[in-house]
Amino acid sequence: MTKDEAKNKIEELSQTLRTHNHKYYVLSEPSISDYDFDMLLEELQRLEKEFPEFAFEDSPTKRVGGEITKNFKTVKHKYRMLSLGNSYSKEDIEDFETRIKKLVENELEYICELKYDGIAIGITYKNGKLVQAVTRGDGVQGDDITPNVKTIRSIPLQLKGDDYPEEFEIRGELFYPKNVFEALNKEREEIGEDLYANARNTASGTLKMQDSAVVAQRKLDCYLYFVLGKNLPFETHFESIQKAGEWGFKIPTEKPNYIKKCKTIDEIFEFINYWDKERNNLNFEIDGVVIKVNNYARQEEIGFTAKSPKWAIAYKFKAEKVSTKLLEITYQVGRTGAITPVANLQPVLLAGTTVRRASLHNADQIEKIDVRVNDTVFVEKGGEIIPKIVGVEATQRDIFSTPTQYITACPECETELVRKEGDAKHYCPNEWGCPPQIKGKMQHFISRKAMNIDGLGEETIDLLYEQRLAKNIADLYELNFDQLFELESFKEKKSQNIIDGLIDSKQIPFERLLYGIGIRYVGETVAKKLARQFKNIDNIINASFEELIAADEIGDKIAESIIHFFFVEGNVELINRLRAHGLQFELSEDQLANATTKLEGLIFVVSGVFSKFSRDELKNTIEQNGGKVSSSISKKTSYIVAGENMGPSKLAKAEKLEVEIINEDRFIELIQ
Ligand code: IVH
Repeated sequence: MTKDEAKNKIEELSQTLRTHNHKYYVLSEPSISDYDFDMLLEELQRLEKEFPEFAFEDSPTKRVGGEITKNFKTVKHKYRMLSLGNSYSKEDIEDFETRIKKLVENELEYICELKYDGIAIGITYKNGKLVQAVTRGDGVQGDDITPNVKTIRSIPLQLKGDDYPEEFEIRGELFYPKNVFEALNKEREEIGEDLYANARNTASGTLKMQDSAVVAQRKLDCYLYFVLGKNLPFETHFESIQKAGEWGFKIPTEKPNYIKKCKTIDEIFEFINYWDKERNNLNFEIDGVVIKVNNYARQEEIGFTAKSPKWAIAYKFKAEKVSTKLLEITYQVGRTGAITPVANLQPVLLAGTTVRRASLHNADQIEKIDVRVNDTVFVEKGGEIIPKIVGVEATQRDIFSTPTQYITACPECETELVRKEGDAKHYCPNEWGCPPQIKGKMQHFISRKAMNIDGLGEETIDLLYEQRLAKNIADLYELNFDQLFELESFKEKKSQNIIDGLIDSKQIPFERLLYGIGIRYVGETVAKKLARQFKNIDNIINASFEELIAADEIGDKIAESIIHFFFVEGNVELINRLRAHGLQFELSEDQLANATTKLEGLIFVVSGVFSKFSRDELKNTIEQNGGKVSSSISKKTSYIVAGENMGPSKLAKAEKLEVEIINEDRFIELIQ
């Protein structure tokens, strides 16, 4: 391919991918399959690697993140980030209208919008390019989280069209779609981490992550609701939002009633009442409605208080709360032995669903609200996905009632529970004899992201366990066709499928097997890191605590958990049995072929943009050759591999600590 051809192709692919991104993430109307999209993206990545001089600064390939920020820079907002006054009733809205009618003579038009329950962000565009994204902070100044925001697919890096102002700011709300948040929690449950309680706080945490590559995987979304700038070419707020949509932003549309023009309080209330009922059917959380005066000239006449515009107001929905009777407290045992107390309730309608159960979290929580069986309790569904008990109607309590005694023995196997210092939860330590733990471990092992064994599902595992055919993951490989075929409703095909699935799973790569064996806190990403850095299971089994924490992204908690896991003889025995069945306990020849120990003992910091590697490739290459990648410069850093645009603060720190800075060519020499 000639240089000209490459340049054209890169331009064409970048444009095509931008269009598909917009269709998929902003309009939710995908027009090609995920596979075809990935193929185009890969093609662009290949070309950009070969011809880096033609890659766009804001190429669609840059959505994968990679930039690390140790401390977010505090920056002053160009326009203060104001808050909104709140209202809770029709009277409050009427008062709002009376107040503003005193200030303007003309007839007023209002825009009603949803009040997204997320994290406010201000994004600045210059000449159509995203240049900065800042959190609200205290309204005067916030954190510059640009690298993280750039990974969010529904936020354009390059605007469409040519009628956008040379410079402007757009504000909106970042959030986790409900289904994404649920999936995130499911993953956490699988590795034995405590669940995130609240989508909004989790989004806030995600946006402050140092590694933008992790943010890129998290699938945050964003609705935009406010355009700011000098001499904006609009007369109304509504117009500004429509235009923002044309430039490629995700904005609320009149269909399906996410935004509405209103003239009267009754019309406003129609919108409010509609969404108060319908909000549970949205795939994102809202906590109210925002009402804004539409016309810019009227807004100016009405003006601001010290804290908020007088031309807009938020109407807050009441947190949905109902009272019902607590029938019983039961206790669930998870795969890791963690005990979760569950309130079993007299069924009650809340936020559009019938609630029968609510989590009570742990013993401390029960003590704190002093909740007892037979109490009338208040159940609320706020930003949380699982309804929670927020209080007790103590006046209705039976005079003979006594405080709840937390269980001391496992409800499934009667083993005495333990609670380690610092742990909020109680655990059942009987990991080899407690049925939900035994089944849970096998179910995790066969799950999609682990061994993904064809034909085997959670119910089959239950059945195999009940029929005493399998009580651990190694037993699965000792099943034979006849044993399965004899089971009720197991026909020939189904039985053979499982046997074949098990045989095929022996080729599943080491990192997925490592994830599947279910070491607490070793999720998919950690398993990958461990596999790559330690290369085989024996190196992990024999690693000391110090060696483990020296590995990239392995902290004290994970290292302790790994050591504990292999300290248990039963686990080592299982590994040996699986090994005898031929499962992959080391990296494949392919993965090993490119590996050396040339960088052993060296710690690298990677900074800037490279022409021969993507940032991830560079990091992988360092690790494959035995080196370690760190995100911050310290006295221990051996080299900084610097590309173009290395940050000035990094440079200053490197010079101060006298760390050697090398370019990518010198790096290649090190590994050759
Ligand atoms: S407009 C000057 N519109 O709610 C007007 N804000 O409690 C600025 N919010 O600070 C805000 N949805 O973080 C506006 N459709 C919407 C909104 C919205 C959520 C947030 C925003 C604001 C806060 C006020």
